Amino acid sequence: MFVGPMLNPSLDQLTDYPFARLATLLGGAATSDSIVMSIGEPQHPPPALVAEALAANAAGWGKYPPANGSAEFRAAVAGWLARRFQLPAGLVNPDTAILPVAGTREALYLIAQTVCGPRRGKPPVVLLPNPFYQVYAGAAVMAGAEPVFVAGDQPDYSTLPAEILDRTALAYLCTPANPQGSVADAALLARTVATARRHGFVLAADECYSEIWDSAAPAGTLAACGDSLANVVVFHSLSKRSSVPGLRSGFVAGDEGVIAAFARVRSYGGAATPLPVLAAATALWRDEAHVDQNRDLYRAKLDMAERILGHRPGFRRPAGGFFLWLDVGNGEQAALKLWREAKIRVLPGAYLARSGADGVNPGDRFIRVALVHDLATTEQALTRLADVLADKGAVRGSS
Ligand SMILES: Cc1ncc(COP(=O)(O)O)c(C=O)c1O
Repeated sequence: MFVGPMLNPSLDQLTDYPFARLATLLGGAATSDSIVMSIGEPQHPPPALVAEALAANAAGWGKYPPANGSAEFRAAVAGWLARRFQLPAGLVNPDTAILPVAGTREALYLIAQTVCGPRRGKPPVVLLPNPFYQVYAGAAVMAGAEPVFVAGDQPDYSTLPAEILDRTALAYLCTPANPQGSVADAALLARTVATARRHGFVLAADECYSEIWDSAAPAGTLAACGDSLANVVVFHSLSKRSSVPGLRSGFVAGDEGVIAAFARVRSYGGAATPLPVLAAATALWRDEAHVDQNRDLYRAKLDMAERILGHRPGFRRPAGGFFLWLDVGNGEQAALKLWREAKIRVLPGAYLARSGADGVNPGDRFIRVALVHDLATTEQALTRLADVLADKGAVRGSS
């Protein structure tokens, strides 16, 4: 008799990833004349120092890299954190509070495996924003936790009932938020850190978009920690900051106990960052000139978007990140119409959010448009997009 493999039953709770759902909705692959604005993959050219550092350190391909990276990498990261967020000297110990990661996606996933265990005899709770970066939900359910979604531009977990907070093992925060581009202010961050400490959970602050901002640099969660990093870990990536999503390089920093546990989990199931990649990453964290240029280019595209779409009531200029989060009345219909009539791929907001107890999906009315292309392509795409959306016929109820 043949017995088929038994799979982890938690898989049943994993909804299809948004891009798989988009492929089903649109029913056709992108072609050379389509413009892909569904994926947050920066198309800006990577800084020249990446290729230089990789070439200069090519001998490192022949070595297994240490899981905690190199002293130079950790020092560059500690220096960047201290400068960027004006942290007190010595708050972040480079040797015990920083770990390189192979992109923050895997780190955001593995942190749930590291910290989730039963709470008061019940499955732990993981708090998530809604809408949210999908990895948080996958991480929560595969860690056997109960995800609790909190809708809003930025969730205020301090307002949740004590019985939920006491069962919470982990809370994700995303600032600037993907997809909305909203930013958590210093007061909200301080309140959230205090809540994590009062109820004994870990706050995982995803700050991957912290360097892509419009008029003011977003506050950082480490700066809201006071003189201790207890209960807090932050996630930073070079994918957006330095336009190198293919480098797969980021870091996690924070509570030394959590970092030590995380390092143990990663020694079993994580990918260490190769030495040449660490060298390139070290050079990138030391340099701000390319980051300023990158930010200026995104700002120019926001100006362009405001010029082309700013008259629409559903337009809001994001404070951070590189997504437009446009209220179009019905996101799925608008995505389909944009694909059929203009060969533009955008993501329906509903795929990035979950329905609440009231049955309302906070992403339903929206599309997410990634401003990741060069200026000319972006102008062409936004002009076509404005034309298609101006034709109210097929996007019912559009604002
Ligand atoms: C909010 C958010 N966090 C984390 C990531 C992961 O980025 P990476 O794995 O390239 O560091 C992304 C990528 O799109 C993201 O949008």
